[in-house]
Amino acid sequence: TYVIAQPCVDLKDKACIDECPVDCIYEGPRKMYIQPDECVDCGACEPVCPVEAIFYEDALPAEWAGYRRADQEVFAPVGSPAGASAAGPLPADHPLVAAEPVREP
Ligand code: F3S
Ligand code: F3S
Repeated sequence: TYVIAQPCVDLKDKACIDECPVDCIYEGPRKMYIQPDECVDCGACEPVCPVEAIFYEDALPAEWAGYRRADQEVFAPVGSPAGASAAGPLPADHPLVAAEPVREP
């Protein structure tokens, strides 16, 4: 699966969601999250992110390794809704994201 890392926090450019053929990029309060069971690894989202926040899981920089778990665990309360646009925003960010210092635009 692909993972959305720290550069997305407090930015959420959302160019990525238009590229995803399976609508598996979900919105949290401070970051977008890829549902790992729904992502088909097409990779279309990765090059369009203006801040290079998206990585294949095995290519995540070490400093952001925790984001792999964040993109899994944040879906624990909702499972696999099979479509971000229909499901609407996630109720809360993963604790790792919530703990990031707030970045002003
Ligand atoms: Fe975030 Fe980049 Fe998408 S900033 S919302 S991962 S285009
Ligand atoms: Fe969608 Fe990106 Fe996966 S475009 S299918 S989230 S690699």
